[in-house]
Amino acid sequence: MASWAYSQLGRWDDAVEEGQKELSIAEEFSDNSMISFAAWIISIAYTSKGDLGRAIEYGELAVQKAPTPGDKAWAQGPLAWAWCQAGEPHRGVEVLATLVPMHRAARFVPGVIHATVWLGEGYWLAGEYDKARQTLEELLEMAERCGMRFVLGSAHRFLGEIALKTNPTQAGEPLAAPHFEQSIAILREIKAENELALACAGYGRLRKQQGNIAEAREYLTKALEIFERLGVRIARATEDGSAGEAGLVTAPLARALAGLDPDRPVAIYACGPTPMMRAVATLAAPHGRPCWVSLEPVMGCGMGGCYSCVVRVRQPDGQARYVRSCLSGPVFDSRKVVWEELVH
Ligand code: FES
Repeated sequence: MASWAYSQLGRWDDAVEEGQKELSIAEEFSDNSMISFAAWIISIAYTSKGDLGRAIEYGELAVQKAPTPGDKAWAQGPLAWAWCQAGEPHRGVEVLATLVPMHRAARFVPGVIHATVWLGEGYWLAGEYDKARQTLEELLEMAERCGMRFVLGSAHRFLGEIALKTNPTQAGEPLAAPHFEQSIAILREIKAENELALACAGYGRLRKQQGNIAEAREYLTKALEIFERLGVRIARATEDGSAGEAGLVTAPLARALAGLDPDRPVAIYACGPTPMMRAVATLAAPHGRPCWVSLEPVMGCGMGGCYSCVVRVRQPDGQARYVRSCLSGPVFDSRKVVWEELVH
């Protein structure tokens, strides 16, 4: 449990170390229940850190070693959460949606609450916003009753993100600001740094969307400062030099790629203006690094009905075809995108 607490504080390396200690003791006593428990705790630490390959590895170990249906139900939750984060939200949601009623039937409240928070996040990542909202609103009530403040802070953050996504003008309900504000207040009080940084980033994006650039900058800077404090290496670049180095982001990226151990598995994720993403994709190719880009064409309906968001993407048969990025994306393998046809 110390490991899980470290994960929630954003102290990922301490979380992994504690989990490994527990795993060694469990292995020494050949106690499969404890091995499974330690493995899924380590999986949570890696998912929180963003090391999803390891998170899935330990999640699978936890499920494999689980000796009882109860142990298995516990172990499947973190593994499903890791899948959600690793770009397979539908696979994660499928598992989590069965775990919630299972824990509920056993009247196991911590199991219900954690599976529900991961399920709500999974629905959000899968673009199933109504289900996500409904799941998270039910969760708020449960978490409030049990005094689970980290869960409350997270649920408010996800609800803020969903409101921002589904109501971009923020002219009426659902409003993102109250959720982000509550999330920030709770997470700051309990010093849940990683989650706090994500909430500040969400609030900063909301303010940017509303044209409040000063406040957007304040909160996005806060998020970056927290990530740096947690040990994340950050390189900033702005065209006018007002933050970080003056110039394009491809300059620090090129240096970082050149200095990387070729055996280290590193992927690039890019979002922002199309020319920037195209330049990043061009840079990633000769270094042999996978690159994922978040394309943002105008989306009229967001549900596949209007075809305003089509982009041409190469298919497994080698042919380039138009796909609706609201359904097939918006994140694509950069090598598959027909860049020449994208409007800048
Ligand atoms: S936004 Fe309407 S089809 Fe994609």
